[in-house]
Amino acid sequence: MNGVTQHKLSCENLLRIDDLSDDDLAAILARARWFAECLTAKKPVPPSLAGRTQINLFFEDSTRTNLSFDLAGKKLGADVINVPVAASSVNKDEDILDTVQTLDAMGADVMILRTRDPRAHERLSQRTRCPVINAGNGTIEHPTQALLDAATLTRTFGTLNGLTIAICGDVRHSRVAGSGVQLFQRLGATVRFVAPDDLLPDRELFADTERFSTLETGLDGADVVMALRLQRERMENPPPIEAYISEFRLDHDRLDLAKDGAKVMHPGPMNRGIEITASLADDKARSLVLDQVFMGVATRMAVLDQLIV
Ligand code: NCD
Repeated sequence: MNGVTQHKLSCENLLRIDDLSDDDLAAILARARWFAECLTAKKPVPPSLAGRTQINLFFEDSTRTNLSFDLAGKKLGADVINVPVAASSVNKDEDILDTVQTLDAMGADVMILRTRDPRAHERLSQRTRCPVINAGNGTIEHPTQALLDAATLTRTFGTLNGLTIAICGDVRHSRVAGSGVQLFQRLGATVRFVAPDDLLPDRELFADTERFSTLETGLDGADVVMALRLQRERMENPPPIEAYISEFRLDHDRLDLAKDGAKVMHPGPMNRGIEITASLADDKARSLVLDQVFMGVATRMAVLDQLIV
């Protein structure tokens, strides 16, 4: 696929990586690459969402994901509305179903939804006319983050096929890891989890993904190391920070445990000095963090463009 020809995604909603066929994945990555070239060259793109209404409804805090969907929709010509959740009728005990149906009835053509409740998207998407895109559901999935991470890796390495990707830190509470592991494996990468035991997912989940409890063992041979934040707001008993820092904080010396020239990724928001040192996060030769943000806009443009045809 060359990214210029139009493709329509095979799914009605994008709630999970499994909603996408192999053709969909190839088409999204190709289109994202093409949009990234247009953005870099400051070239206008076809306004495929002109006259369409995109509603961003985030029930959890967000900077990158919300703004990147906002920008992606605007680049494609959509009218984009960001619902000010903190000042909405949700605070008058309105059921989220009524909020969503109200926005749908206002003429939404797509709804970007982030919730704390992992089951909300399934239930709500059955009650809307417009497609729903999952921008994060509790600790379970965040499909567009995985897609933008794959787009970033494709741009950097040419392919994910054959890469070894070590996802490090609070894997247990990470929807980024949840979607990422599924997508990266489908694209031919080997994925490993590297974390203290209590931050690994339950054994029955991701059973075919290797698990390591030290950076020394888990980073050996890795092409890519993805650091995750300690998602303390989702934990019952957050671990002591000092012990975590001494065993798991990524820095240049620890990245040397991986392959020569290995790259580091982070979905953000970063807690500098906890899961990653500031000097590694800011090292343009090793860190893909800002490439991920850039590819986030291009990838979300590709998803919107191919879902709402
Ligand atoms: C992540 C999220 O919200 O799941 N951030 C993001 O979308 N870029 C990761 C996190 O909260 O740590």
